[in-house]
Amino acid sequence: MELEAAVRGRRSIRKFRADNIPKGVIEEIMEAARWAPSWGNTQAWEFYVMTGKPLEVFRKQNFEKLVAGEPFRADVPMPEIWPEHMKKRYGELGRIILATLGVKREDKEGRNRFYSEMALLFGAPCLVVACIPKDTRVEYAMLDVGLITQTICLVAHGKGIGTCIMAAAVGYPDILRKIVLIPENRRIIVSIAMGYPENADPINHFERPRAGLSEFVRWVE
Ligand SMILES: Cc1cc2nc3c(=O)[nH]c(=O)nc-3n(C[C@H](O)[C@H](O)[C@H](O)COP(=O)(O)O)c2cc1C
Repeated sequence: MELEAAVRGRRSIRKFRADNIPKGVIEEIMEAARWAPSWGNTQAWEFYVMTGKPLEVFRKQNFEKLVAGEPFRADVPMPEIWPEHMKKRYGELGRIILATLGVKREDKEGRNRFYSEMALLFGAPCLVVACIPKDTRVEYAMLDVGLITQTICLVAHGKGIGTCIMAAAVGYPDILRKIVLIPENRRIIVSIAMGYPENADPINHFERPRAGLSEFVRWVE
């Protein structure tokens, strides 16, 4: 796939088919993604690739905690306050998703159905969990994890595999640590749900707004 087409065409997939991705294909994706840049070539990242039984156990427990209303306690806490214009964009995403699902704003049950789907990882047959060592300077390693995460998503997209980067799958790090045996000295950063997209579902096709260049590029000439 042509590079720019891949960058523009990748999107978050929120409904996956149940079909497993062959392990060889996941290996090819990770193999290509390791060419992502990192500060000083430190490659601080570490990935746990969950499929099969362990993933099903995790999916169930993640769902149960969310349904029980247990607050997220991610290793990388979600900021509580966002600048106004970003809050607006975040709200707009929620509105578009609910409209695509045909859920009215006041329909709490409908909203909860979506959150449940999210806790169930949108049905993805694979979850890739990104970690860094706890003793690493977080700010720099976070950049590196971001770079390789997008690289994974792009390479997967090039192979017809959909991804959704998911904060909602690392909100309960204790279950990940128990099931995946992620050591205490690892900081769990983010995860990537991965699988073949359910192409017929509108949730994988809604239009995604993006700011125009004038909003975020300052020319210095
Ligand atoms: C760090 C990070 C965490 C995210 N967590 C979630 C998540 O928990 N659930 C979800 O549905 N999407 C999640 N997303 C996907 C974003 O909502 C998505 O990237 C954004 O809306 C832009 O849309 P696009 O990926 O389709 O271009 C996350 C993205 C990033 C970068």
